[in-house]
Amino acid sequence: MGQPVLFDVKTGDSGDEAQRLEQKYAHRMREDLRMGSMVSYVGNRDVPLLRLYRYKEAFAFRFVEEWLARFGAGPEDTVFDPFCGMGTTLLAASCRGIPAVGTDRLPVAVFIARTLPLFFQVRPGELTRVFEHLRQIAPSAEPAPVAMDVAIMGVAFPAGTLLALRRWKAAIDGLDSPFREIFLLLFFSVLEACSYTSKDGQFLRLRRDKRPADLEEALTGKVREAETDVRWIRELGWDRAFLPFQVVLGDTRRLEDVPFERSPTVIITSPPYANRYDYTRTYSLELCFHFVRNFAELRELRHSLLRSHIEARLAPAEEAPHPAVRELVDFLRARGKALNNPRIPDMLTGYFVDMQKAIREWRRVLAPSARVAMVVDNVRFEGRMLPVDLILSEMAEEEGFVVEEIVVARYKGNSSQQMGRYGRVPVRESIVVWRKQE
Ligand SMILES: C[S@@+](CC[C@H](N)C(=O)[O-])C[C@H]1O[C@@H](n2cnc3c(N)ncnc32)[C@H](O)[C@@H]1O
Repeated sequence: MGQPVLFDVKTGDSGDEAQRLEQKYAHRMREDLRMGSMVSYVGNRDVPLLRLYRYKEAFAFRFVEEWLARFGAGPEDTVFDPFCGMGTTLLAASCRGIPAVGTDRLPVAVFIARTLPLFFQVRPGELTRVFEHLRQIAPSAEPAPVAMDVAIMGVAFPAGTLLALRRWKAAIDGLDSPFREIFLLLFFSVLEACSYTSKDGQFLRLRRDKRPADLEEALTGKVREAETDVRWIRELGWDRAFLPFQVVLGDTRRLEDVPFERSPTVIITSPPYANRYDYTRTYSLELCFHFVRNFAELRELRHSLLRSHIEARLAPAEEAPHPAVRELVDFLRARGKALNNPRIPDMLTGYFVDMQKAIREWRRVLAPSARVAMVVDNVRFEGRMLPVDLILSEMAEEEGFVVEEIVVARYKGNSSQQMGRYGRVPVRESIVVWRKQE
């Protein structure tokens, strides 16, 4: 752990409330830039199973291992990830024999997290055999239905590839479990490569200059990788240590339906960032192939997620629950038409209202003295910095947590747009560490 650092607060770069927070928490902040490489999915490129599907908002397996060790977590604990994504936290805890529970509101994330443990049921060589069978039957399979009224689906793939994908999907749907789920995961993992799209930044971008990969070649490569992983997890002994975990498709703002066997003692998590992240766009190809039937369902899903996206809607009289957010929202609203994106104030307001609900729920379900480690990103709009790490920490304090520390994992450059207009100011990505009061 590095030394405490006093952060230099640049006047004019943040509002009075933001500056007050910087002063208030200065003694709790530390830099540990070694964490920088662990807060992104890049660290999973050499981790079996997690490397198979690129959930780009994931953090690294090693990050979870590190925090489990720091919290001294063992089999008597229960680890909870309220935004579990592809299940990095759940897998890392389970491989150490620690019970784990996760929730996520995005069906494709829940599907991936539930499918990872199925690889433990597979014997070396089996995936290759099933793949050969699929190769025989896919070309004549009746194409599976997809949500073609979602605009991106009409332009994402070369026509021949789209038809081939629908046939492969139908063939995979006909398999028995666990091969159906495993091959569906591998199928999802080649969609981006076989398309004109790329998961860049917060959206799925259409890139006409891209050369889509050949479907069969991409699948062959994935199956080979998966075969390697089936052997690898045995060599690592994960199959022997592994404890099945629970993944609930649900909203962390309302946890009453999550059947916790024991109150969780540890949370290791990362929420969506308050910066136009729309998971229903980034993962729209996967969603349209399997999880939604049409655009109306996709839109409904978008509005059921945390309001980190630009289409966030506010209820009448809904207000941000923290003065630093209201300060920035007022500043942005006052800019009116000059504002780069007029919907950002509503997104920020909705985001913090939602996070307050989430933190309240965690406080309710957690065991006394439970610890929380959560990765968050600060944001900057129109040149003004919003210290999301400190705001959430103060909100957590109001809900009955003690702020133990705020660990700065890395500094990120701001967007090129912001940089052009307001200069380059590094934006913190931090790990907030809280303890529930007795
Ligand atoms: C930063 S990602 C977490 C990634 C995860 N740490 C991993 O390693 O895969 C945030 C997650 O929050 C989920 N999410 C968004 N709104 C939610 C809600 N209301 N309840 C639960 N999960 C939600 C998103 O679907 C996304 O998977």
